[in-house]
Parts: sequence; structure tokens; C-alpha cells
Amino acid sequence: MTATSQALEPLSLEHQQALRVCENIRKGLSQGVDKERIRKYTNWFKRNYLDPHFDLEEQFIFPLLGNNVRVKKALANHRRINKLLSCDCDNERVLNLLEEELSTFIRYEERVLFKEIVKKVGPEELLQLQTHHDSIVFNEEDWKDKFWKS
Ligand SMILES: [Fe+2]
Repeated sequence: MTATSQALEPLSLEHQQALRVCENIRKGLSQGVDKERIRKYTNWFKRNYLDPHFDLEEQFIFPLLGNNVRVKKALANHRRINKLLSCDCDNERVLNLLEEELSTFIRYEERVLFKEIVKKVGPEELLQLQTHHDSIVFNEEDWKDKFWKS
């Protein structure tokens, strides 16, 4: 592992956690779990994990690539996902879209955006990133209503 990809490691870990959240949403929907329960879970996830994650990427990661089409796409995706998360509706369509768009976007970040950063950004530049970011430790135990296990 290069120093650059190592610096991105905490963010990649958060991506894995977000993918797990998507999986839980998917399971809940397929098991016919009350949408309000799923909504409460996505609200909790947004507030505690996704908001700080997006903030960090927008403040410190995306600017590393400068004015770049892939960064523009990522910012548009952040906006769109935030909109889906902030919508007070608990209908199936919105939750489906949210799960789909969030997981697709995370894969894009990992496979395209982060790869480009590793290629273009020097390790020194990324080292300072670590001072901003202690990985947001995701503790699934903090959320008691594990609807996906029902
Ligand atoms: Fe991300």
C-alpha cells in the first residue's frame, strides 16, 4: 500500500460502513419493514456519520483534484443524496433511490475518484489529511432497532 492510499484508508473504511447501511435498507425494504423505522435509521446515520464524512471530503479531499469534472459529479451526487436523505417522506420509492444512489456513488468514489487522487496527489499533501480526520468509528450497536435482522 502506498502512503497515499494509506491516507485514504479511514475514508474507505467509512465507505464500507455506508455500504452496510445500504444493505440494511435493502433488507428492510424486502422484508416489508415499516418505512418509518427505516427512515429513523437513515436519519441517525446521516446526522452522525454521513454529514461529517461528506464535509471532510468536500473540504479536504475533493479540492486536491482542483477544478475537475469528476469532482463536479461527486459534489452533485452529495447534493442529490442529501436531498433524498432530508426528504421527510418515508415512501418506498425514495428509500429505494437512496439505497441505490448511495451505493453506486460510493463505488464511484472508490473506483474512480480515489484512484485518481492516488495517481495525482503526493503523499505529503495527503499526510496533513490525517490530522483532520480520525476515522468516524461506526458503531452499529448504537442503533438499537435492528430491523434488518427481523
Ligand atoms: Fe465518500
